[in-house]
Amino acid sequence: MQRHILNTFMREINLEMKQVFEVSFVCLGNICRSPLAQGVFESLVAREGLGDQISTSSAGVSGWHTGQLPDARMRETARQKGIQLNSRARQFKPADFNRFDLVLAMDQTNLSALEQMGGASDKKLRLFRSFDPMNNGDLDMPDPYYGGNQGFEYVYQIVARTCPKILEFIRPRLAPLK
Ligand code: 4NP
Repeated sequence: MQRHILNTFMREINLEMKQVFEVSFVCLGNICRSPLAQGVFESLVAREGLGDQISTSSAGVSGWHTGQLPDARMRETARQKGIQLNSRARQFKPADFNRFDLVLAMDQTNLSALEQMGGASDKKLRLFRSFDPMNNGDLDMPDPYYGGNQGFEYVYQIVARTCPKILEFIRPRLAPLK
């Protein structure tokens, strides 16, 4: 009983002290779509002066490319827009749901894989393109991995118009500055 009270107390202190909103973008391999979303979103957050309040990362539902830099084609597309991608691929783990405030899946297959891990609340886990102002009902980010260069540019266009909408969603959820 005492332990239960202590745990509740600790959780409340932790919630109150948590100042940084943590968002993670998740795709299959964590070398194409989600690293681009991470890079574009990070650059937007920095431009808005919110770097101390929002932490941005990405992951894959698979561990196939763990430790790798983003795909060279994705890095080149981003570089042309003035964004350097230097994340290293990592696999999303069920315990990550405790850490993140918002987890954005790139397509419905990724979303299902995350849902199957359990532990995600509907509020935390969403589809990236549910924020896309031009989704026309298509909520999947196309996977450019097996296609040509135009696929990477297309992914960039979706990411670029969607990231500001995600920031609009997060802004009122940020902890007030002390
Ligand atoms: P991503 O793209 O999920 O956007 O990182 C892919 C990367 C690698 C593979 C598939 C998609 N693959 O089959 O290895």
